[in-house]
Amino acid sequence: MELANDEIPLEQGHVPEKVVNRDSETQQLTQAAKQLHNIHLHGPRGTGKTHLTKKTLEEAEAKVCYLSCIEYDTQYKALRKIYSELTGESIGTGHHTSELQRKIKEGTGAVETIIVLDELDFLLLNDGDDLLYFLSRLETNGNLGLVLITANHQDLEEQVEPRTYSTLQPQRIGFEPYTGEQTYEILADRASKSLKPRTVHRAALTYIASSTQNTGYALTWFRTAVNNADDVVTEELVKRLQEKAYSLYVENQLSPLSQHHKILYQAIAEISQESGPVVNTGSIYNRYEIIVDERGSTPLSGRRISDYLKQLEQLNLISADYHYGGEKGKTREIRLTGLQ
Ligand SMILES: Nc1ncnc2c1ncn2[C@@H]1O[C@H](COP(=O)(O)OP(=O)(O)OP(=O)(O)O)[C@@H](O)[C@H]1O
Ligand SMILES: [Mg+2]
Repeated sequence: MELANDEIPLEQGHVPEKVVNRDSETQQLTQAAKQLHNIHLHGPRGTGKTHLTKKTLEEAEAKVCYLSCIEYDTQYKALRKIYSELTGESIGTGHHTSELQRKIKEGTGAVETIIVLDELDFLLLNDGDDLLYFLSRLETNGNLGLVLITANHQDLEEQVEPRTYSTLQPQRIGFEPYTGEQTYEILADRASKSLKPRTVHRAALTYIASSTQNTGYALTWFRTAVNNADDVVTEELVKRLQEKAYSLYVENQLSPLSQHHKILYQAIAEISQESGPVVNTGSIYNRYEIIVDERGSTPLSGRRISDYLKQLEQLNLISADYHYGGEKGKTREIRLTGLQ
């Protein structure tokens, strides 16, 4: 990166000091963290939910335990992770769920704790609401607060059992997409912290900011341009790199998931390139099997693949239209979300 004085502000996962334009959300989250109230943050991809949570909770007095439910997508996996975060000890497999629950109950009894379940949709889809039910019932004398983050469901009430919801009663904060000006400001802030003077054209940033509302993608795009620039990031360069930047964004989104998710995405991409944007699930499965076969591994069942498609949908990498009735009962038409 010839243009950079400091590459860190541009890195994936870097959480800068400054949070642009999220004052009221920051305030609400700070307040909830102080009082250990349960809170539910929701909003589309790249609206700053994870960033704001991490930044705000750095200041919290309580012990903070953060997990992304893309990786920890069952109650069991999540409990093990929570246990090791709380105690600093890792725990082997072979423990019963109830034993882990008991240990966590002991651990949270004495210390004020905030548990962040980011990407909660993934755990709910995969394993139902048992973990939430358990956490909602922890007898901790008010010592536990939950921060629940979702990109797909605005209202958790429809996603969990009434007995769970009635105890959780989370305060809801909706994250609206950033405007073009706000996205510009976020990009410009990173550029000024990272790059040498006069290495970015204003029009280059404006182009990215007016093309997408997803700041995760916008920053990936900008980073790609910086990495590919000779001496200055121009609008023309940014336009030329749009497709490449989007595939890097997709790659990054898929990185915590399995090889089968990646093959599935590849299958959809191949078919839509060959025969148009709308793809049916039958042909996806066929192509998936062919690719898996070529790689010498064993395909997963149709049922699992159907769940995996749902996960790609939750990542907003594909969209699905459901059709009911007809010869085959319920069918799904899938398309890549693609460049936004
Ligand atoms: N207000 C902001 N100020 C500065 N940077 C921001 C702001 N909002 C988002 N960003 C940056 O944009 C990127 C995406 O933000 P973040 O990951 O928090 O979004 P998200 O809503 O959690 O998205 P997803 O639903 O995909 O997880 C991050 O690199 C983050 O640092
Ligand atoms: Mg996030």
